[in-house]
Amino acid sequence: MDFNLKLIVEGYTKLYVPQNLRDTSYVFYNPENKPLRDVSCIFIKSLEKDLTYLDLLAGTGASGLRIANESNISSIVLNDKNPYAYKLIKRNAELNNLSVKIYNKEANLLMRENVYKFDVIDIDPFGSPVHYLDNAIATVRKNGYLIVSATDLAPLNGVNIKACYRKYQSIPIRIPTAKEIGLRILIGYIIRTAAKYSRAIKVLLSLYYKHMYKVYLFVEHGKKRADASLENLGYLYYCKRCLRFEISHEIMPKVRICSNCNKPFEIAGPLYIGKLKDESLIKRMNRYAEKYFTDKRFKKFYERFCDEYDTFLYYDLHHVASVFKLKVKSIDLVINELKNLGYNATRTIFSNYGIKTDADLSEIIKILKND
Ligand SMILES: C[S@@+](CC[C@H](N)C(=O)[O-])C[C@H]1O[C@@H](n2cnc3c(N)ncnc32)[C@H](O)[C@@H]1O
Ligand SMILES: [Zn+2]
Repeated sequence: MDFNLKLIVEGYTKLYVPQNLRDTSYVFYNPENKPLRDVSCIFIKSLEKDLTYLDLLAGTGASGLRIANESNISSIVLNDKNPYAYKLIKRNAELNNLSVKIYNKEANLLMRENVYKFDVIDIDPFGSPVHYLDNAIATVRKNGYLIVSATDLAPLNGVNIKACYRKYQSIPIRIPTAKEIGLRILIGYIIRTAAKYSRAIKVLLSLYYKHMYKVYLFVEHGKKRADASLENLGYLYYCKRCLRFEISHEIMPKVRICSNCNKPFEIAGPLYIGKLKDESLIKRMNRYAEKYFTDKRFKKFYERFCDEYDTFLYYDLHHVASVFKLKVKSIDLVINELKNLGYNATRTIFSNYGIKTDADLSEIIKILKND
């Protein structure tokens, strides 16, 4: 190798990774994403099927080799167009005595040369996954899975609106709760891309962790299913003055007026308005969670993810307090009071100050006003 390596252990797998992780000119490896690779391992274990898995943009091979080593599926393929990465994946596979197929190809070419060969395609790009989605959706096997990561948060979170429109043909919104909207724009784009090929997408897990989105999706075939999947798309109507919002699944957005302020709502979308997780899959995954999620911070994150009330958007307590000029209270206290009133209320993975609830915003305001 033309660069220095160090030996590490991630999960239950040994890996050579670049000595200097900041120097990404050779091969990219980010130890911070280890917990997300743990999730992928237990996701694959929980499917309880023998599948063919493709790590499309494999880097050091961390994801694919860990799945080969730590799960029960027999057919694993890894690919990276970078020749250094290719050599390193080979070396890491040998290090763990794993028999896997390794390619050194452009990702889209590889998928096109292997139509319907893969049950799972894992796409972990630099930035946006959009360049790979058409071919992944069109070539993944019937009733297959996609694992899609994205780190281009500036466009998706409304900091760079033009880039979001260019890549995702969707209008983002810059609000304190934009993290969830960005994830929903990403999923919405995948659903629209899938519909072109008469594929339907079911959302199994949607994560936001350390500046990365990662979604786990089930892909079904059929025009009717694709039409039904499109029903989960819509628009967000949001009032920045009083923080009220509405969602709708119209194909075309309309001008809507906030009845509270008598001013037009801002509009974001198209975006996904359905559920962000599949409870039955999470139950199956939880059998492995204890063994895998050893990192304290991630354990807390995962517990929050499991508990999170799966509804559209959340209220940012600090933002609510500042807009209505109220003193902020402890988030746990507000959540408990909402629960005592009979509402669903939980924290959210998107923010330490976020509350997901079916209560009207006025209930939160009342709680903040009470002495
Ligand atoms: C974010 S890194 C992958 C990290 C890896 N999945 C992990 O968990 O450590 C993205 C990788 O995609 C590779 N890549 C970029 N464009 C590609 C393309 N068009 N075809 C194949 N590989 C590509 C890069 O060489 C890089 O190794
Ligand atoms: Zn309003």
